[in-house]
Amino acid sequence: MNPIVLTQRHGDIVVIVVDNPPVNTITAAARTAMREALEAVAADKSVRAVILRCAGNNFFTGADIGEFSGPPKEAEYRALWAQFEGLNVPMIAAMHGSSIGGGLELALACHYRIAPPTAKFMLPEVTLGIIPGAGGTQRLPRLVGLDNALRMILDAKPVDAGKAREMGLIDEVISGDFVTGVLHYAQKLLSQGDGPRRTSERSVDARELTPEFTARWQAEARRMYPNRTAALTAIEAVQATARLPFAEGLLFEEKLANQTKVTVEARASIHVFFAERESRKVEGLAADVISRPLRHAGVVGAGTMGGGIAIAFANAGIPVTILDVTQESLSHGLSVVNSTFESMVKRGRIDAAEKARRMGLITGTVSYHDFATSDVIIEAVFESMDLKKRVFGELDAVAQPGAILATNTSTLDVDEIAASIRRPQDVVGLHFFSPANVMPLLEVVRGKQSSDEAIRTAMELAKVIRKTPVLARVCYGFIGNRMMEGYAREALLLTLEGETPRRVDTVLEQFGMAMGILAVFDMAGIDVGVNVHRTNAHRYPPDPTYYQADAALHAAGRLGQKTGSGFYRYVKGDRTRHDDTEASGILARRAAELAIAQRPHSDEEILERCIFPLLNEGIRILEEGIAQRASDVDVVWCAGYGFPRYRGGPMFYADTIGLPALLAGMQKYRDRFGPMHWEPAPLLVRLVREGRTLADWDTERRGVAS
Ligand code: NAI
Repeated sequence: MNPIVLTQRHGDIVVIVVDNPPVNTITAAARTAMREALEAVAADKSVRAVILRCAGNNFFTGADIGEFSGPPKEAEYRALWAQFEGLNVPMIAAMHGSSIGGGLELALACHYRIAPPTAKFMLPEVTLGIIPGAGGTQRLPRLVGLDNALRMILDAKPVDAGKAREMGLIDEVISGDFVTGVLHYAQKLLSQGDGPRRTSERSVDARELTPEFTARWQAEARRMYPNRTAALTAIEAVQATARLPFAEGLLFEEKLANQTKVTVEARASIHVFFAERESRKVEGLAADVISRPLRHAGVVGAGTMGGGIAIAFANAGIPVTILDVTQESLSHGLSVVNSTFESMVKRGRIDAAEKARRMGLITGTVSYHDFATSDVIIEAVFESMDLKKRVFGELDAVAQPGAILATNTSTLDVDEIAASIRRPQDVVGLHFFSPANVMPLLEVVRGKQSSDEAIRTAMELAKVIRKTPVLARVCYGFIGNRMMEGYAREALLLTLEGETPRRVDTVLEQFGMAMGILAVFDMAGIDVGVNVHRTNAHRYPPDPTYYQADAALHAAGRLGQKTGSGFYRYVKGDRTRHDDTEASGILARRAAELAIAQRPHSDEEILERCIFPLLNEGIRILEEGIAQRASDVDVVWCAGYGFPRYRGGPMFYADTIGLPALLAGMQKYRDRFGPMHWEPAPLLVRLVREGRTLADWDTERRGVAS
């Protein structure tokens, strides 16, 4: 077994090395091991300096999120940190890689902090709805000042070594070999006679804390974290450093930290964190079903999606062959891929050599024979069943036995595609989201005949290319787009009932959606949705007002950002939305043709009409077994559709407002608008009758499945 803590002796210096793979989380076992190591060091009078270092790629990356829902651990952390801080010899934190959350707070309790130039420091707590509760709010301001501390806590973003040195978070940036440099630093301290230097004994400059200062930071917290309170609570905790002695400050911080843990925003964010891990698990798949190897990938279609998918593989270091029908379309696709990498270079994400390496992993072809060695081949050609069947026929002829044959279709029947070839067991859907190299979500669609091995391989593949997979069964729209249908339907209808696109989008954005749905339409291209609805008209309810706002704009040649106008107007080269009376005129005329009355709506009605159908459809999806669990539905909408993580995703949100309230809402609109779109999901009715929640549904099903 791997001992978590090793101590090394270098003359009168002791190095405590913590090795808690994969990322040096401060687990209960790590805390115990550190406590014991410190006791031994403190008892040894020959030790003159102590260094705390970690093995692996990082210093500590934070507390164990798994402990958040259990009993509070603040007192234990406080005692352990006090042990570090209380040492009577210099205690040096040597922080390579990332130091995150509780890991950084531990270093704050050490006497000196040093790091290599590549190190990064971050306190992400407020984004999880909590505050740095292991002394962070009390020690950080004492080291770097109130303003810097608040900036770092609110930004919740990595601070680099240069900046950290500048503000006094670390004492020295160590170039060259880090392990040697750290020892030299300790020797230097000893030769200079530098002793312990306790952060807790410092004080902040209380004069800075004027009412204006506080008001400015509170305004910043509200701006950065609308609908949330953790950032405001963090400010309250930081303020306490100016008025409370350190020990009392820690107790005040603990009180606030425990208050934040029970807020909806904290529970929701942590729910999504775990849901994203859970979604990788496939119910009922035997442990001995193992993934096939993934050494080489193929992509058919070098368009928007195919290009993005190829980039995702290249980013993960996997060679990929991409095919298009003509040399010309292939070259065009590859040039788009090239410019995507180029923009990554421009933004400083990768350097030119890395770009060349990744481009080198992508090979273009017009011949299916080049897929002979591919372990997975993903089809991303035009959305046509005949075409896709032809492509799969070609793949069937050349692919090696056992290769995964995947379709990126959004609307076509994966089972029908699979049934058209000789190896349906190897066919799955891999539904990427645009841009495929950026968006984390991947819906893995399990066809009727998909083998367990194919599903396991698809889930593993997602991990390799750093996607968040969610398993879906075959249905029109799978999980995400199927839920989108009613949400967008109502947003569009509201614009026909007289609301401006701006008003509808604003209500949705104030709720927390990353972007209002009408702005999303403009971005994606209004023609995309209109074409899908035309092709699939037979699938939709017989409602003459259905998806008519986008159809009207489409008929007027307003296709969104790409034509400079859609629901909004755009200036060339700029994505800023401008209100447009011409759009309003078109919408009003279409409304008149459809005899839709114009009337004002409350914010509440706008929100409920868009969100309730989304929640209701999610519940239907659960009931039909399309999604494995409610938390998977949450992952789809948080990772793929900009649903606010701090609301936990649609199913968590349904539980938050209460299923009885959702049911009553659906019934209210059913009574008003008729049952065509507003019939409550039978499972919703049942859960309300039984007094259960969607979380209960997940728990109970987990019990059955395992
Ligand atoms: P696109 O029109 O940008 O690209 C399609 C590519 O396929 C073109 O480069 C075309 O030359 C190529 N192609 C056509 N026939 C071919 C053939 N016989 N052999 C080889 N290549 C051929 O389309 P896009 O947007 O990339 O969509 C591709 C697929 O992905 C569709 O099934 C679509 O429904 C799906 N999808 C699209 C999303 C989006 O946001 N655009 C999101 C998720 C899925």
